[in-house]
Amino acid sequence: MEAIYKLWIVIVSLIVVKLCHLIYQWSNPKCNGKLPPGSMGFPIIGETIEFMKPHDALQYSNFLKKRILRHGPLFRTSLFGGKVIISTDNELNMEMAKTNRIPGITKSLARLFGEDNNLFLQSTESHKHARNLTLQLLGSQGLKLRILEDIDILARTYMSEEARNGTLDVKETASKIIIECLGKKVMGNMEPEAAKKLALCWRYFPSGWFRLPFKIPGMGIYNMMKARKTMKKLLKEEVLKKRASGEEFGEFFKIIFGENKGGKERMSMDHVIEYIYTFFVIANETTPRILAATIKLISENSEVMQELQREHARIVGDKTAKQASLTWEDYKSMTFTNMVINESLRISTTVPVILRKPDHDIKVGDYTIPAGWNFMGYPSVHFNPEKYEDPLVFNPWRWKGKDVDAILSKNYVPFGAGPRLCVGAYFAKLLMAIFIHHLCRYRWSMKADITITRSYMLMFPRGCDVQISEENKV
Ligand code: HEM
Repeated sequence: MEAIYKLWIVIVSLIVVKLCHLIYQWSNPKCNGKLPPGSMGFPIIGETIEFMKPHDALQYSNFLKKRILRHGPLFRTSLFGGKVIISTDNELNMEMAKTNRIPGITKSLARLFGEDNNLFLQSTESHKHARNLTLQLLGSQGLKLRILEDIDILARTYMSEEARNGTLDVKETASKIIIECLGKKVMGNMEPEAAKKLALCWRYFPSGWFRLPFKIPGMGIYNMMKARKTMKKLLKEEVLKKRASGEEFGEFFKIIFGENKGGKERMSMDHVIEYIYTFFVIANETTPRILAATIKLISENSEVMQELQREHARIVGDKTAKQASLTWEDYKSMTFTNMVINESLRISTTVPVILRKPDHDIKVGDYTIPAGWNFMGYPSVHFNPEKYEDPLVFNPWRWKGKDVDAILSKNYVPFGAGPRLCVGAYFAKLLMAIFIHHLCRYRWSMKADITITRSYMLMFPRGCDVQISEENKV
């Protein structure tokens, strides 16, 4: 009996020693040099829970503020199961953005985008190639020739439908416009049943999907992985059906397969499906939220609202027929609208915009950013009082006289920078401007109790409805 008891003590002691060793290793990761200061938090979950705590969307989180005070602009942590270096040093962020190609998302998140087949998660020539193809659709020529008219018609239609009901959910409406517009460009006309099923998949992308990326049944990620599977299956079936019947694909698909026929670089069917899926997810998870935050900011600033109404009444007034479509020249004349969008993007970008994984150790002063760690660069320059006077104030007029079309400068990085600069930036800005244009043709308001928080993603705990009526419609 005593022998068994002693054996148990030995086994338990060994387990405790092993656990202590693992915890020590977790808290003190190996590095060829000196790691930036910080803490790795609890094993596996690291500091994810504190990082994801909802905070005022227009300010940095307490997580970040506390660590900047304690450690300065460069520190280490662990998030979503991966080792992370966080930087709020603008110069370092730009350097990292320009000189590194590999996207810095943890393995647990990369899974959601299909690690192996996703061209955007690779750092090869195929990534460059995928970007070039995308820019044929979403660069300014593509937007002018192929996209503007569709967004205009969709926004006009949805808004007039919802004005009859008296309320409009900004995020939901923007999402419907994006899915329909990109869906048509990618797939061409889809069978209504398949289009409906595809739209339904979004129901499984719950707004908190990003919170804890562990695949536990019933949680956001589990549902999202299920939706991902369904979406990919649907897309594949549609593609195969169209190929077999010789039916027309959308222009985007033609661009991809047109290139394929040239034989330069083959994209397999899985690559193409994964690529389309990534597109839908990124477009749908970014633009509708930023737009809803922009509408909220406008609703709180009567002078901004009046200036916008003047700008859009002028654009409508210049047309002979009131229902005449928007033109590229109309869009280019929306100067104040673009100032509002730029300012909203500046002030609401309280998340990292440069996400990279260096493939070699990088020396930064006394510290080393180890190869293979995830680097997250926050756009601290957006809140630097030397670059932006009263940086926490929403003031679109600060953009007066500046190049409002630019999506990147050394003091403005809402869309990232370098070889991974967002490929949907011009599309997102166009969509937001057209949406604001049509909204300003109605009388509208947003309830004062609507709040915008951030839990990495922008969140709207009380929804993002606007009250909209046909009264005074221009
Ligand atoms: C206001 C809305 C949007 C914001 C704020 C935004 C922001 C960003 C940021 C910060 C990055 C990372 C850049 C980097 O790591 O340097 C990115 C990448 C990307 N975005 Fe956007 N984005 C928006 C809309 C869109 C839309 C509408 C699409 C698609 C139609 C899109 C497609 C992409 C893609 C595919 C990438 C990866 C590019 C690459 O790795 O080469 N984004 N975006």
